[in-house]
Amino acid sequence: MRLKYSTRIVVILNGVVIKIPISRKGFLQGLNEKFIWDKYNKIAPLAELKWMCLGVVCQKKYANVEFGIVPFYSIRQIKAVIPELDFKNCDLHNYENWGWTTDDKFILLDYGVNEYISTLYKLK
Ligand SMILES: Nc1ncnc2c1ncn2[C@@H]1O[C@H](COP(=O)(O)OP(=O)(O)O)[C@@H](O)[C@H]1O
Ligand SMILES: [Mg+2]
Repeated sequence: MRLKYSTRIVVILNGVVIKIPISRKGFLQGLNEKFIWDKYNKIAPLAELKWMCLGVVCQKKYANVEFGIVPFYSIRQIKAVIPELDFKNCDLHNYENWGWTTDDKFILLDYGVNEYISTLYKLK
């Protein structure tokens, strides 16, 4: 088991990750992740969301993208189909928010930040 944290504590287990909010921003990210998943999971490469409860999100675990690779093509694809994630200085440009599937495709791990949420104070 590994732990990571920024606006959420992320518990990385064998097959799943659990994202626990530690701030209002993290809480809203969790709710929005569920909203975006329900609306777009059929048409965009989003990390599989298994459940969300009170802002806590459980996702399938993916391999992380190494060496700072930013998948420009996938960013463009996501922005084209998800207007909520298409804004300046969005989180998509951060390689840490991308994963890699077992069939070698980029997948977005962190899709909770919309334009409003991005303006909230980030607890580090
Ligand atoms: N589904 C996942 N599979 C593997 N690693 C993940 C997954 N979701 C998040 N992570 C890792 O945890 C880090 C933080 O998760 P993220 O969803 O970006 O939360 P936040 O940025 O709100 O703290 C990511 O940068 C990534 O390294
Ligand atoms: Mg993130």
